Order: sequence, then C-alpha cells, then structure tokens
Amino acid sequence: MTPCTLITGGAGYIGSHTAVILMDAGYRVIIIDNLCNSSPRVLDRLRQLCGDQFEFVQADVRDGAALDSVFAQYPVESVIHFAGLKAVGESVTQPLRYFDNNVGSTVSLLQAMDRADVRRMVFSSSATVYGDPQQVPISEAAHLKATNPYARTKLICEDMLRDLQDADPRWQVAILRYFNPVGAHPSGIIGEAPSGIPNNLMPYITQVAVGQRDYLSIFGNDYPTPDGTGVRDYIHVMDLARGHVAALEHLTKQQSSITVNLGTGHGVSVQQLVDTFVRVTGRPIAYRQTARRQGDVAACYADTTLALTTLGWQAEHDIARMCEDAWRWQSMNPTGYAS
Ligand code: NAD
Ligand code: UD1
Repeated sequence: MTPCTLITGGAGYIGSHTAVILMDAGYRVIIIDNLCNSSPRVLDRLRQLCGDQFEFVQADVRDGAALDSVFAQYPVESVIHFAGLKAVGESVTQPLRYFDNNVGSTVSLLQAMDRADVRRMVFSSSATVYGDPQQVPISEAAHLKATNPYARTKLICEDMLRDLQDADPRWQVAILRYFNPVGAHPSGIIGEAPSGIPNNLMPYITQVAVGQRDYLSIFGNDYPTPDGTGVRDYIHVMDLARGHVAALEHLTKQQSSITVNLGTGHGVSVQQLVDTFVRVTGRPIAYRQTARRQGDVAACYADTTLALTTLGWQAEHDIARMCEDAWRWQSMNPTGYAS
C-alpha cells in the first residue's frame, strides 16, 4: 500500500487546503477530525476537487484507541497536526478547554505515533508565540512569550516537541509558525467558514462585502504604524499549504528537525487591506474607526529568510490575489458550507 500522510484537523480551514495541495502533489491522505469546528460538507467539496483520493475518520485526536486503529489500518509515514481550537478570546475565558484540547490532543497523538513507530510530524504553531515582538521583522530566534492561554498551548506543544527531539533523535519535527492565513482555493470550492461572528479581519471584510454584516470596525488608528492601523503579515492559504509539502520533503530528505516562520515578510495595514479589497473586487466596504482591541500588537510580520534557505519555500501570492480568492469563495458561498 502507498504510504500515507495523516492530517489531523483536515476538515478545517488550513487543513482542507493542505489536503488538496498534498493530493495534487501525489500524496495519499488520511483525514482525522471530530468536526467540532468544521462541516462534513468540506469532505464533499474535497471530493469535488480531488476525487476519492483520501480517507476520512471522524474521531477526536485525544482518543488514543481511535488513533491506534488508524495507524493499524493505514501505512502512515508522517503526520500533519492541525487539530486545535484557535480563538484567543475564548481561550481566555475557557483556558482548561484549550489546554485539554490543544495540549491533550498533541500528547495523545505523539504517544500513538510512538506506539506505531511513526516519528515524523509537522506541527501548526503560530506567530502568537512571539507575544508583543520587540522588533520586526520577527526571526525564529526572537524571544517567545505567551500572552494568552491559546498562545500558551502552542508554546507548551512546541516545548514538548523540542524535549522529545532531545530525548529521542528518531523524531523528525517541523514546527511551522504561521502568520495570518487568508484567502481560499482559487476554485472558490473550499475556503474559510468561521462559525458566528468572525474574530479575524479578512472573513469579517468578506462578510461585510456579501451583505451579512453592516460594517467593519477598524480596531485602533493610533498605532505607531504608517497609517495608524495595525500591521500584519497576511499569507495566502495556498502558499501556506505548499509550505507544508516543503516541510514534509525537508523532513524526509534532510532527516532533521526545524522551526520556521511561514509568512510573506511584508507588513500590510488594516487600512491597506480594506483599500486593496475594494479595489480588486469592486465591492464597497463600510467601516468605522473604533478603539484598539485588547491584546493586539501594533505590527507583526515575519523574517522569512529561514524558510527560503532551508525549505526552498517562499510565498508567491500578493495581497490583491488574497482578496480576490477570499471574495470568490465568499460570493460563491455566502453562508460558507451552509450554502
Ligand atoms: P480550524 O478550526 O478551521 O481547523 C481545525 C480543525 O481541527 C477543525 O476542523 C476542528 O473540527 C478540528 N479539531 C479541533 N480539535 C480537535 C480534536 N480534539 N480532535 C479532532 N479534530 C479536532 O482552524 P485552522 O485555521 O485551519 O487552524 C489549523 C491550525 O493552525 C490550528 O492548530 C491553529 O491553532 C493553527 N493556526 C491557525 C491560524 C489561523 O489564523 N487560522 C494561525 C496560526 C496557527
Ligand atoms: C489573531 C489572534 C492571533 C492569531 C491570529 C491568526 C487575537 C488577539 N490574536 O491575531 O493569536 O494567531 O489572529 O489567526 O485575536 N482587525 C480589525 N477589525 C476586525 C478584526 C481585526 O480592525 O474586525 C484588525 C486587528 O486589530 C489587527 C488586524 O486586523 O490589527 C488583524 O486581526 P486578526 O485577523 O484578528 O489577526 P491578529 O490580530 O494578527
């Protein structure tokens, strides 16, 4: 049987796009997801794009027995671990739920991998581990600091993975620190479908554009940035997905662990993103300036040198393309996967 890549959280936003890119690259894919933050319709959409090239197992990654049966059934050679909860505000009010789910699933998965003799993992980390960065662009060597429970779950998992590599060199781990993933597959068939009111900027903009929300609140216009609004490193989700293939290839060929930023290296302000969206889609976006959002930093963008030198990877799509693809997805699916 052809070796497989197991994708936890593969029905989610980044996981589903990565599944498509992997299948396009000839990988055989097994998705495990408990669907706590995704729709089963994603699987139909994946079939539409890729045919029946993948298997789906509905299970919780904290369920060791379910993982054992996946490893017994399929010749898994590597794992990409996306499964996790990701809402910062929710993590502040429900920290135990975040520790249980995000840290608990990672422990359970690593134990099951160990039992199955599979020790190659790509882990979804986040630029949130840099806290309030002392300088931008941020390199991987920057100081790490968790400023909320979600960020702490990512730091704990990263530390756990580092301890594991130190204890047993057979582990090959790629820790990928994502900056701000946006956009969608160019077909408009899969995309980002947040439940409830979006926390993040791009889905909020597309929901205003499609008429689901009245206006965008721009959180703060007095940051020390060129136009006063917050600056971030938005990265097209298809570029991010390609980064996972590059990481898997690195682990297979170099057999060495790595921690890398996945971003474009360019800072874009909230105002610039809104203006670009309006220009490329022709849709008006009503907005109001409001107070800063608690916990937000002024500017956060990546030093991407390491990704280029070690993985040979760099982002290709610009901000206009991110807006176009995000809008195509939203306009074809006004209510996400419920459409
Ligand atoms: P998402 O919520 O769309 O996808 C996560 C998927 O994991 C969902 O389908 C959910 O149902 C599943 N899941 C959660 N807990 C599970 C469990 N215990 N067992 C099985 N399935 C479970 O999120 P996403 O945006 O695709 O993010 C994927 C990963 O990337 C997460 O770990 C997230 O923290 C990380 N990340 C995301 C961003 C971002 O902006 N989207 C930025 C940095 C890092
Ligand atoms: C948020 C998370 C971060 C996570 C990242 C990517 C918080 C505090 N941080 O960061 O942990 O890694 O998403 O998923 O939630 N903005 C508005 N109006 C809105 C929404 C956002 O003006 O309605 C602004 C924000 O102030 C910020 C920028 O847009 O300047 C981007 O916000 P967002 O998409 O939430 O990402 P981050 O703040 O980078």
